Amino acid sequence: MDFNDQGATLLFALLSILLVVWLLKNKPVRKGRLPPGPPALPILGSLFHVNVKSPHKSLIKLSEQYGPIFTVWFGTYPAVVLCGFEAIKEALIERGHDFNSRYLLPALQKVSEGYGVVSSSGERWKQLRRFSLSTLRNFGMGKKGIEERIQEEAKFLVAEFRNKKENPFNPDFLLRCAASNIICSIVFGDRFEYEDKEFLTFLEMIAENGRILSGPWIQMYNNFPKLMDLLPGPHKKIFQNVADLSTFLNKSIQSHRESLQQDFSRDYIDSFLIKIDEEKHKPDSEFNDKNLLMSAMNLFLAGTETTSTTMQWGLQILAKYPHIQEKIYREIEEVVGSCRCPAVEDRAKMPYTDAVIHEVQRFIDLVPMNLPHMATNDIEFRGYLIPKGTFVIPVLSSVLKGREQWQVPESFNPNHFLDENGCFKNSESFMAFSAGKRKCLGESLARMELFLFLTTLIQNFVFHPVLDREDIDISSSLSGLLRIPHMYKFCAISR
Ligand code: HEM
Repeated sequence: MDFNDQGATLLFALLSILLVVWLLKNKPVRKGRLPPGPPALPILGSLFHVNVKSPHKSLIKLSEQYGPIFTVWFGTYPAVVLCGFEAIKEALIERGHDFNSRYLLPALQKVSEGYGVVSSSGERWKQLRRFSLSTLRNFGMGKKGIEERIQEEAKFLVAEFRNKKENPFNPDFLLRCAASNIICSIVFGDRFEYEDKEFLTFLEMIAENGRILSGPWIQMYNNFPKLMDLLPGPHKKIFQNVADLSTFLNKSIQSHRESLQQDFSRDYIDSFLIKIDEEKHKPDSEFNDKNLLMSAMNLFLAGTETTSTTMQWGLQILAKYPHIQEKIYREIEEVVGSCRCPAVEDRAKMPYTDAVIHEVQRFIDLVPMNLPHMATNDIEFRGYLIPKGTFVIPVLSSVLKGREQWQVPESFNPNHFLDENGCFKNSESFMAFSAGKRKCLGESLARMELFLFLTTLIQNFVFHPVLDREDIDISSSLSGLLRIPHMYKFCAISR
């Protein structure tokens, strides 16, 4: 269902009545000495200052008036917003311990109850993060093992693209299958066929959740959860999809349990089950069934949606700018040739390609407001007192599109990552994966996937849009948790 103006008016009318009742039942929030921000209305908070269709843009605009740190109110709870490189670096890197906890927005709370590596904080998060990182590395993340798995999957992807026989098609679904199969190999120890009905159903659910989480309904839910629970709308579908995914994962966990060998782990689920057994007598162990289910779900979802959406954006941008596509192809010809597939070690010799992939990630600004962070303690920060438990929003978009950091922040320009000699030039402001101790756990896997999948595709095909290139819109179609691209069809012409 689309969020249209009529729907919004009806929603507001209902909210106004129901919120009064709700407010009367809720305790006031401890305010500390929060930074100032736009005026907040009782009950509705700063709703009129934050456009639900593009919240990160509203926050960046507000920072022009209120500076790099200010407060907005979501319904009756405050959020401290951090904008710009300096404030975000100071909070997430220099004061990491104070800002590393995860704030459970109502939708996240309902789905996870605080279990799993993405949603947890404190000791639980430390145990799950350490275990997940080391297990992913044991299964080859950032190493040769997973490189070969991605190269193999890239060949399947090329075969699927060739099957389209140069007819127009939307690559979105095939890219999802490929990205998901990599994380599935690590979590479940197996890949799925691109025709597997169950797999396709789950991929569609993940995609649907990505769209809903990036749309306005879920923001209304996070503002007014108890009320939105009473109303119909697409936000309800998220919870159903997560319940169905849990059933599928629980079945897989059960079959792992039945065939488990204590001295030989086949994948992440096996390793977790072995750890549960090892720590069963430790009272403070966080290795239990709930954390296993949610962490496996976290990896499955985060590993599928982010990388495949980045590749979808990337192909669209390359189809719009054929000269960039050709320049990458020339670099592939020079360094890799056409007889073997690209490998990670080629990247160091391919500065232009590396710069384009970084620029895709910077430009698309995939997670514009980061995942929600939370004050771990009462924090003194830049003259303010942020009480423990306060929602903190580090607006990554304000760094990825910062005027001080980038020459032409709103344009797609690979030169942002090249020096005057054409060598790759990284930047501290490249925060697509966030920053500090809580930054993306799958970064090295994602970087490998983006490089190997995209270069293998360009080695094999030229991407032609069906529309005129000028008509390809590379602004987002939806923007909330993620920025989702408009969808177009392409022809993949064999080289
Ligand atoms: C282009 C691809 C990706 C992007 C742009 C991306 C971005 C992010 C961002 C912005 C965060 C939030 C960090 C924070 O809270 O400060 C995050 C967290 C996370 N990502 Fe990724 N990610 C990507 C791919 C992946 C992949 C492939 C995996 C699978 C292993 C993954 C797993 C996770 C997990 C588990 C977290 C939660 C970490 C924690 O809470 O400690 N991500 N990612």
